[in-house]
Amino acid sequence: MSRYDQIKVDLRAAPATWLITGVAGFIGSNLLEVLLSLEQKVIGLDNFSTGYPHNLEKVKHRVTEAHWKNFSFIEGDIARLEDCRKAVSGVDYVLHQAALGSVPASIADPIATNLANVDGFLNMLVAARDEGVKSFTYAASSATYGDHPGLPKVEGHIGNPLSPYAVAKYVNELYAGVFSRAYGFGSTGLRYFNIFGPRQDPDGAYAAVIPKWVSTMIRNEPVSIHGDGETSRDFCFVQDAVQANLLAAVLNNDELARVYNVACGVSTSLNQLFAMIREQLGHIGIDYAGSPKYSDFRHGDIRHSQADIRKIGQGLGYAPEFSVDKGLALAIPWYMSQLAE
Ligand SMILES: NC(=O)c1ccc[n+]([C@@H]2O[C@H](COP(=O)([O-])OP(=O)(O)OC[C@H]3O[C@@H](n4cnc5c(N)ncnc54)[C@H](O)[C@@H]3O)[C@@H](O)[C@H]2O)c1
Repeated sequence: MSRYDQIKVDLRAAPATWLITGVAGFIGSNLLEVLLSLEQKVIGLDNFSTGYPHNLEKVKHRVTEAHWKNFSFIEGDIARLEDCRKAVSGVDYVLHQAALGSVPASIADPIATNLANVDGFLNMLVAARDEGVKSFTYAASSATYGDHPGLPKVEGHIGNPLSPYAVAKYVNELYAGVFSRAYGFGSTGLRYFNIFGPRQDPDGAYAAVIPKWVSTMIRNEPVSIHGDGETSRDFCFVQDAVQANLLAAVLNNDELARVYNVACGVSTSLNQLFAMIREQLGHIGIDYAGSPKYSDFRHGDIRHSQADIRKIGQGLGYAPEFSVDKGLALAIPWYMSQLAE
């Protein structure tokens, strides 16, 4: 049995209380669904700045009534310390996901990003430390690699940040390190690469590439690519990010501040991704005939991104269960069902 499977068995046998910040968002709502299905008690905190009540409704319909009763929601802002203190009260494990997650949005409004992603993060650290939680796991980011040219990305080698978002995510790691050294408060930063899957927002100016393209292509509208399409990413299905969170939360409960890459470990160019989505749509009877339109490169975007995932494999027993194709095969029907609603 894998370490992840064992942890799921153990959690079912002895349920704990979890806090998920950013619970109404994409990754947060997927964490919620898995934890409720494992009989856990979950408190969720969100201010609906980029998340939606309908994400919570969708989870409600996917779990049993008894499971849903184990969830309590607090509408609040991590930029307010009192909201964070209220949310962590009585909690064993914190999964801190709340943040403004867009690179271009941070370039447009760095102050808003700093407030949520730096002030909010520090508030959560202080509240969790004072509550004496068993572990604190947080969403770090591959953006922290900045302009470092090395590939694949190894945790110890980072470059200069290329956006206010990247600065904020790096500051999170610096604060986590200081809380370990100054207060003996341990944490785990999960440097997510490009996470995708059901409930990732396809709309708006800052939508991520997979949900945006899938919904655009289902509607038979033109797809546009920033740059020449040879920009590459390490796309990771959301259930693998859930796996990383549960492993980190349960296994890393000491005084150390750790950081791990969370990804598939595979590089996919945007041109390849376009072809993969078109092929998968073809399997379900949607023949997308268009070709991508190429436009200027976008400020703050890194050219190539691929993770070395050995550290999290060795440290936590993490092993991705989903290839990009397997993840797309689950995500695309979900987007189809949403458009039909
Ligand atoms: N999706 C990815 O590929 C990816 C990659 C790297 C890092 N991350 C990080 O993972 C985390 C989750 O991202 P996501 O993709 O689910 O984004 P998301 O926007 O869907 O979810 C973020 C949630 O946080 C909430 N939130 C934002 N500011 C808040 C505040 N001040 N107080 C309370 N709630 C607040 C939002 O309303 C939203 O529900 C973020 O920290 C993001 O930076 C995501």
